[in-house]
Amino acid sequence: MSVDLKGRNFLKIMDFSAEELEYLLDLAADLKAKKKAGVSTEVFKGKTVALIFEKTSTRTRCAFEVAAYDLGMNCTYLDPSGSQIGKKESIADTARVLGRMYDGIEYRGFGQEIVETIARYAGVPVWNGLTNESHPTQILADFLTVRERFGRLKGINFVYMGDARFNMGNSLMVGCAKLGMNFTACAPKKYFPDYKLVAECRAIAEKTGSVITLTDDVEKGVKNADVIYTDVWVSMGEPDEVWAERIKELSPYQVNSKVMSMAGENAVFMHCLPAFHDLNTTIGRDISRKFGINEMEVTDEVFESPRSVVFDEAENRMHTIKAVMYATL
Ligand code: CP
Ligand code: NVA
Repeated sequence: MSVDLKGRNFLKIMDFSAEELEYLLDLAADLKAKKKAGVSTEVFKGKTVALIFEKTSTRTRCAFEVAAYDLGMNCTYLDPSGSQIGKKESIADTARVLGRMYDGIEYRGFGQEIVETIARYAGVPVWNGLTNESHPTQILADFLTVRERFGRLKGINFVYMGDARFNMGNSLMVGCAKLGMNFTACAPKKYFPDYKLVAECRAIAEKTGSVITLTDDVEKGVKNADVIYTDVWVSMGEPDEVWAERIKELSPYQVNSKVMSMAGENAVFMHCLPAFHDLNTTIGRDISRKFGINEMEVTDEVFESPRSVVFDEAENRMHTIKAVMYATL
């Protein structure tokens, strides 16, 4: 059966079959090869997409913009403060307005229900550029990177360390279950993903032959890992007051050279970025002043090491987002 995603939304990984996800990864690899070879992919001349960002972004915004241009499209960026969204105009009304003008809409913001509402009302494909619960385009980039590095996805031991109950932990767990990768959340128990989502993923994993593990034991969690993944300890939209607690509770789950040495011999380090690995950011310096730490979820040593594939992931955001727009428009 051939995959056809025309007109589909891209809201969360759970909405897609393994075959559809693999199709998107293959398409991204093909579009990446074309870009490197200088082959034009301007198939959507005359189309325009809207990019709504209620939270800030470097990678996702730039990936959508460059991908749109490479496909021959134009785009409009709506920043976190410059539109009527949510303040003077409801999400449903905004979706209906933009759906009359644009061929597709990207949304980054808070609750998953917001992007789901836009999709219900827009009448054009809607793509999730990150919500609190889910970051599906990041998963495609991460899995393309893993595939490039290991030549396969099935059977890969994927370990997520840190706050596993937010967008990255959730989406990676779902993606791993769907594609037959073993997923381990290595974190204090209160940071495990929601038990209902875990149950759903375990049911999928049973069919795809993978295993979902939750553990607070670092040594057990990272043993035989092919990928050690982490993300910031405090996500966008969370209050500054949680920093103290997060630093205390998640510091034992920092990815450092000891953790990497306990993982598999060829293990790589991954991070969706941005990362706090040095003092070259205002937040990093502020946290250092307040709490006396100079690195957070990952040490600078690991981040800068040859095992780190974080900039491959960042580049792959663009190729995979291009694949999503190419497939759904
Ligand atoms: N990884 C990611 O989504 O990065 P941005 O916040 O820069 O878009
Ligand atoms: N968990 C992070 C991911 C950033 C790409 C956040 O939501 O801020």
